[in-house]
Amino acid sequence: MTARLLDGRALAARIEQDVRAEVDTFAAMCGRAPRLVVVLVGDLAASGSYVKSKAAAAARVGIDSEVLRVPETCQTPDLVALVAAIARDEHGPADGILVQLPLPAHIDQVAVLDAVPPDRDVDGFHPQNAGLLSQGRPRFIPCTAAGVQRMLIDAGIPTAGRHAVVVGRSDIVGKPLALLLSARPPSGATADAAGCDATVTICHSRSADLAAITRQADILVAAVGRAGLITEEMVKPGAAVIDVGINRVQGRLVGDVAFAEVSRVAGWISPVPGGVGPLTVAMLLSNTLLAAELRLGRP
Ligand code: GUN
Repeated sequence: MTARLLDGRALAARIEQDVRAEVDTFAAMCGRAPRLVVVLVGDLAASGSYVKSKAAAAARVGIDSEVLRVPETCQTPDLVALVAAIARDEHGPADGILVQLPLPAHIDQVAVLDAVPPDRDVDGFHPQNAGLLSQGRPRFIPCTAAGVQRMLIDAGIPTAGRHAVVVGRSDIVGKPLALLLSARPPSGATADAAGCDATVTICHSRSADLAAITRQADILVAAVGRAGLITEEMVKPGAAVIDVGINRVQGRLVGDVAFAEVSRVAGWISPVPGGVGPLTVAMLLSNTLLAAELRLGRP
């Protein structure tokens, strides 16, 4: 079998078209575009490049954005104060606020992220948004997790009653994705159309016999950050394999999945780059529009 490719770029482009139309309607009604303020600390090349692609995507759909750069040497209280000032709109209207991660090791990341008001938290990292998601009434869903679910729905990959194995237990991807896939469908939607009702197993670095668990997966999501972690013999023939990993190996971007060999057994596979990454950005645009609508009213 040769796996079908899950083209994240093409899907992201379609999502951007929809967001663009809604942004135009919003701007016509409210007299201004939705606006996103991003905080970028230090000069990690990867973070700089992610932030650049977020700002470029925002511009494509008509969302205003501003990136506030802060030196690596800043301290936690400085960053908390900056986020508070952004939330008071001192840096222009801030419908959505995003603090790019990772923060330098000396910064208290929790204190900084908690300073983002939950109704502007377009990353969905605030405990209030995490709590709403866990209770099955999501507001802002973390962008990568939302992107993975959207990719499954768009490809027509069934989730209801299927076994989804998520490798990685991060607050950003693994945990929210497990909640999304195992949720009840919203009323009026079928489970497969909503990407819900799966049986979910979360694996992590201490899981015993990882391969024995991943081989049971109808849907296998790798979100660890270890190049080549998922090999051919860890995948059930015909499974959907979604690669969330972004690793730089000898200057090349690769995921957590050994792409060439896993493509021979999987039914579907997402590439790196060009898979989940563009969807993460597309879902951020969608969350920023939602934040502006929550603040100023839905058209
Ligand atoms: N760094 C890697 N992924 C993300 C993300 O989804 N949001 C933020 N803020 N930082 C990240």
